[in-house]
Amino acid sequence: MSLPELVTDPAAWQARCRADRESGKRIVLVPTMGYLHDGHLSLMLEARRLATPRGVAVASVFVNPTQFGPTEDLSSYPRDLQGDLEKLGRAGIDRVFAPTDPAQIFAPGHETWIVVEKVSQGLCGGSRPGHFRGVATVVSKLFNLTLPHAALFGEKDYQQLAVIRAMVRDLSFGVEIVGMPIVREQDGLALSSRNAYLSAGERTRALALSRALFEARDAAARGERDAARLRARGRERLEAAGARVDYVEIVHPITLAPVERVEPGSIMLVAAFVGATRLIDNVRLP
Ligand code: PAJ
Repeated sequence: MSLPELVTDPAAWQARCRADRESGKRIVLVPTMGYLHDGHLSLMLEARRLATPRGVAVASVFVNPTQFGPTEDLSSYPRDLQGDLEKLGRAGIDRVFAPTDPAQIFAPGHETWIVVEKVSQGLCGGSRPGHFRGVATVVSKLFNLTLPHAALFGEKDYQQLAVIRAMVRDLSFGVEIVGMPIVREQDGLALSSRNAYLSAGERTRALALSRALFEARDAAARGERDAARLRARGRERLEAAGARVDYVEIVHPITLAPVERVEPGSIMLVAAFVGATRLIDNVRLP
């Protein structure tokens, strides 16, 4: 296994990617904030597959300060660049962009922001004001630096994926957006870099998120169509486990508008605090 090539300078990265593109290679990008787990790595393996035989699979590792609120976990967000590079090498990633200083991406005086208006409202956008503005802006910047043909994102962050799809459509980025299914632990917990914050007791309580969602999925499969009832039951489940509910919603898969009757493809999403850690998860209803 060889380590991927590491590039820290944005201009050098852009030059490398442009040269690849001009030589006819297909560029497939996976943006991340690092501290990689098997969820991230499922995206890397798919990127490798999509970039084979005539392409490059590339990834970015950047903890983007502009998507964190003032009281959020920017300073404590887990980091392990060396470990990440080894995992990326094993997954067959060719090249990694990891700026060393946030000012390389957001220079003093940066004043241009991308706001995806409707899809960013509610859900995580409701409880994390400015979050999706930071995500959309950094992803558009990564697209301009990398010039990818395709980019992969996980359905774990369902609203984020919808925001990026809307941005790419509205601003004609010409990047194919590939959504990837949620990777879970054996017991159902969705993999997340933030799971590293959980104590043993919290780790057990965190199971309430996926359990609440799977229970709703089973109820919907048995014919339950009333979104309010499904939401109420999900909320009870979470509260019974000692989680502090941020939201429990059932929405249209593309517009993310709340629905009252469950339709095939409706998405149920939850966000809840387990101890001090905010976790999110979602499931497609049958
Ligand atoms: P990060 O949280 O590091 O996630 C990077 C990518 O991995 C995202 O597309 C996310 O949805 C995906 N991912 C995370 N956990 C997953 C799981 N259990 N199964 C499948 N995919 C999973 O999302 C971000 O970083 C940032 O917001 C970013 C897009 C990089 C912009 O800063």
